Amino acid sequence: MGVVLITGASRGIGLEFARQYTQEGVGVIATCRRPGEAKELSLLAEQFSNLSIEQLDLSSDDDLQALCLTLEKSKIQLDILISNAGVLLNEKFGEWTRQKFADTFDVNVTGAAMLAQSMLAFLSPTGKLVHLSSRLGSLELGGEGMADADSYSMSKAALNMLIARLASAFKGSSSCVVSLSPGWVATDMGGASATLSAEESVSNMRQAIGALTALDSGRFIDNQGSSIPW
Ligand SMILES: NC(=O)c1ccc[n+]([C@@H]2O[C@H](COP(=O)([O-])OP(=O)(O)OC[C@H]3O[C@@H](n4cnc5c(N)ncnc54)[C@H](OP(=O)(O)O)[C@@H]3O)[C@@H](O)[C@H]2O)c1
Repeated sequence: MGVVLITGASRGIGLEFARQYTQEGVGVIATCRRPGEAKELSLLAEQFSNLSIEQLDLSSDDDLQALCLTLEKSKIQLDILISNAGVLLNEKFGEWTRQKFADTFDVNVTGAAMLAQSMLAFLSPTGKLVHLSSRLGSLELGGEGMADADSYSMSKAALNMLIARLASAFKGSSSCVVSLSPGWVATDMGGASATLSAEESVSNMRQAIGALTALDSGRFIDNQGSSIPW
């Protein structure tokens, strides 16, 4: 396998994806919004020459353009794009604010969509575009599981539609786009009581991603590759 690009690699699941793919010997482009503050990622880059770090704030068109230029200059083709960066701004019904909805959708939906659109030119013909979603975004499951995550749940439902639209755009190609739920993972977002470590979740997800083919395009899957109801 060639190159994997990961967003939100400063911590949590994104950092663990960067660590595991790097240790496997794959070329990794780990993006984060403040490289200077991403200490663990920087340490990893000092140890492994197959890992490079690029700045990418999903809210910034300038960052996205700069990343495209970098990829263009180095003639990079991406085998896997892990669209991982996301935010969860807690608020329950009765405490919703326009600002929190806007901030959540800006990263989880608009940011992911603009990234996907910009990266298409760099995706290899058999490239895999993997979006980190959540069971909370399942309409059929009613977003049940977290009482104070309504804008987050809605944003992941919207993200799932992004996957459906991209799958339609990819139809007939050998590429694959999926929505992938990592499980409940112990990170800053998942909290300490989560049932899975980042290491376990990412290890499972890497296996599931490895097994994906174009026939899987448009699916909503868990970290074992099994379907989640929409
Ligand atoms: N943990 C779970 O249980 C769980 C469950 C279901 C789905 N997920 C999904 O899995 C993904 C990763 O979650 P996590 O648990 O690793 O979360 P996390 O620990 O909170 O890490 C979030 C990552 O996203 C980055 N990020 C936030 N806003 C950004 C922006 N505007 N531009 C670029 N990067 C940005 C953060 O960067 P900074 O360090 O700069 O803030 C950080 O690297 C998310 O999409 C999340 O919704 C997680």
